[in-house]
Amino acid sequence: MNLKPEPLVFEVSAPGRIAVSLPKGDTPSYPLPPGLVRTELKLPELDELTVVRHFTRLSQKNFSIDTDFYPLGSCTMKYNPKANEVAAGLPGFRNTHPLVGEEFSQGALELVHRLQSMLAEIGGFKAVSLQPAAGAHGELAGVFMIRAYHLSRGDAKRTKILIPDSAHGTNPASCTMAGLEALTLPSNAEGGVDMEALKAGLDAAAGEVAGIMITNPNTLGLFERNIEEIARLVHEAGGLVYGDGANMNALTGVFKPGESGIDVMHFNLHKTFSTPHGGGGPGSGMVGAGDRLAAFLPGPVAVEKGERYALEMPAKSIGRMKAFYGNFGVLVRAYTYIRMLGPNGLRRVAENAVLNANYLKVRIEKVFPLKYSRRCMHEFVAMGDIAPGIHTLDIAKRLIDYGIHPPTIYFPLIVPEALMVEPTETESLATLDEFVRVMTLIAQEAKTRPELLHAAPTTTPIGRLDEVAAARSPVLCYRA
Ligand SMILES: Cc1ncc(COP(=O)(O)O)c(C=O)c1O
Repeated sequence: MNLKPEPLVFEVSAPGRIAVSLPKGDTPSYPLPPGLVRTELKLPELDELTVVRHFTRLSQKNFSIDTDFYPLGSCTMKYNPKANEVAAGLPGFRNTHPLVGEEFSQGALELVHRLQSMLAEIGGFKAVSLQPAAGAHGELAGVFMIRAYHLSRGDAKRTKILIPDSAHGTNPASCTMAGLEALTLPSNAEGGVDMEALKAGLDAAAGEVAGIMITNPNTLGLFERNIEEIARLVHEAGGLVYGDGANMNALTGVFKPGESGIDVMHFNLHKTFSTPHGGGGPGSGMVGAGDRLAAFLPGPVAVEKGERYALEMPAKSIGRMKAFYGNFGVLVRAYTYIRMLGPNGLRRVAENAVLNANYLKVRIEKVFPLKYSRRCMHEFVAMGDIAPGIHTLDIAKRLIDYGIHPPTIYFPLIVPEALMVEPTETESLATLDEFVRVMTLIAQEAKTRPELLHAAPTTTPIGRLDEVAAARSPVLCYRA
């Protein structure tokens, strides 16, 4: 237990304290116009050790995958091997700049080209573009591509996209941002797409269906068994199939979405290929496309020209989604991860992701029931309202007291009091068992000492937030 009290004073600035010494300027000084001169800077004055302690203390308040178990469903907080960082920090990669031109970027372009080819192979696609900066950005690119395809055939009436009600919120958002209309498809009793509703939806919007956005495995952690039939029906109706490939860590080396009728799909590097997630840092949501859409991919993409690599726009490209060729640093990390694992290792990633999730599912559902209880893929969705007056939020907050990050809660929306658990392939049996032990304990507390859950978290610098106020009126800087 950490008995160290919080510092009582936050404001530690004191006049005259200095942490840096700047070299004497060697350029002549010029007087500024009086209106531009600042007379009072109001910067904190601190010595180096105080600054180091301040930031180190702040960093320790952060919950991270490097410190504790983080079973955040749908967001896949899996361990990012440090070897990725070593590769991304190699001077040749770290110090290069895209404006040095193709001639001096051959190594970087070769890596981009190789990664494109590896992802095409993993996903079963004809071509891949590494441009988009996140999963949602890849979705937007994919919907633009579908729209561009129809327009290239003079088919401007196709403006509707079918989206299952279990989809990640980014699916309808991307569709709307691309100027198309999202039509919601209900799920069936098994948690998959309701095939009768799909047929009715395709009939009702005949001639106007641009396509479908389908997540496989879906956000319930369930494999969409009818994927080939869904793709066949949508194609028959003149539409195209967008695959949300965010959950590819359940499929790598086992199943190629491109071979199941998907025309375009995004990969989430942070979810599948172990690049850092969160914090708003640079990400990547590259898109793969089959025969119908490869020419529409965003560009430029890297191509091989004899002994050289060059950048080229695909023939009917929707254009750029990002400056240069995407977020290069995370591409190096993903490339390193794929090369470290090789084909067999990638298959084991999927096998272990599914094994870990099913192991937890079978044990956790004894205390937290599931709405859809069939065998899961990489994640499962339980329900947290197991005792009178107890809600999923209480379970989530109590987990923090036991040093475990809460699972994703209240998503997907079709499961009441959803508690969405994704252990990931990188966790050991000991960690999974500890999670089961803690969840079982919390389930008992929920019935016998509910006040403990209502008061949680008690081990964090602040307890329960007013989450609406925090989202609507955030205070983003320190106020003395
Ligand atoms: C199923 C699914 N689709 C789309 C996304 C959006 O990806 P991103 O957060 O990279 O924009 C996520 C996020 O993790 C997801 O889980």
